[in-house]
Amino acid sequence: MCERLPQKDKVHAWTTILKNWGVKLLSDLKGKVAIVTGSSKGIGAGIAERLAADGVCVIVNYSRSAEDAATVVERITAAGGKAFAVKANLSEPAEIQPLIDAALRHFGKLDILVNNAGVYKVDTLDTLSAESFDEHYNLNVRGLLLATQAAARVLPSGGVVVNISSGLAKSPHPNLHVYCSTKGAVDTLTRSLAMELGPRKIRVVGIAPGFTATEGNAESAKQAAERIVAKTPLGRVGLPKDIAATVSYAVSLDAGWITGTTIDVAGGMVF
Ligand SMILES: NC(=O)c1ccc[n+]([C@@H]2O[C@H](COP(=O)([O-])OP(=O)(O)OC[C@H]3O[C@@H](n4cnc5c(N)ncnc54)[C@H](OP(=O)(O)O)[C@@H]3O)[C@@H](O)[C@H]2O)c1
Repeated sequence: MCERLPQKDKVHAWTTILKNWGVKLLSDLKGKVAIVTGSSKGIGAGIAERLAADGVCVIVNYSRSAEDAATVVERITAAGGKAFAVKANLSEPAEIQPLIDAALRHFGKLDILVNNAGVYKVDTLDTLSAESFDEHYNLNVRGLLLATQAAARVLPSGGVVVNISSGLAKSPHPNLHVYCSTKGAVDTLTRSLAMELGPRKIRVVGIAPGFTATEGNAESAKQAAERIVAKTPLGRVGLPKDIAATVSYAVSLDAGWITGTTIDVAGGMVF
């Protein structure tokens, strides 16, 4: 018969068993270096702050919002972390290599690239335009791919690329044709990049948030939040920290057998 142990002894017993099995309970990200693209606000800011709290030295990238980026860096530094803000417009191919160089200059190496910067705009078949197509694809797809190309030249064995996708890639919406298709492309790239980088032991992991309350969607949230919450089994909208927690896991050693796939982080919501 099983002996009933007090709660704290149970925890201790499990900890010992897991350690004996060689299971690492807390991943050690301390001293790693990450670039988080588009981290002056929203999901990117949440990812930057979470990784910094995990002990990662972070490059906080922005293209326009210098003050917001400085605020993210201040919050990280005040909490005892290390971060620098670096301006680079990821839609401009010429600005991508200097972003990678900034990580090497400030921190001496690069272990993690989080491709988060993205644009999303309403685009029905009637209203979409070549300009809007280029704006979405130049950042969400070309920027992501060229940033990964530049990062891959310096990432070591054990490096990780995280691509922020969207639940809309698999479950698209007719008011967002162009955006949804960019995220479909991101999921395909997650798989093909993982195949190319796997032999170097570099992982590529996609993360597909559901609706997540950020500065970028504050306006649409006013109309859509109630409908979205009603369709979400866990009964609320997502928060940047929900996505950031999954990124923290995806870049950790505990996720060392995950590559080429995209993880839904959406409270169970299907768009
Ligand atoms: N929020 C959601 O519900 C949701 C759901 C699924 C997926 N996502 C994805 O999650 C990512 C972040 O979304 P979000 O809602 O957090 O966005 P957001 O609140 O609009 O923030 C966007 C961030 O990206 C930066 N950025 C924009 N254009 C850039 C460029 N050309 N180069 C570099 N940085 C740039 C912005 O900085 P500047 O202001 O300095 O340009 C800002 O830091 C996107 O890839 C989005 O598609 C979001």
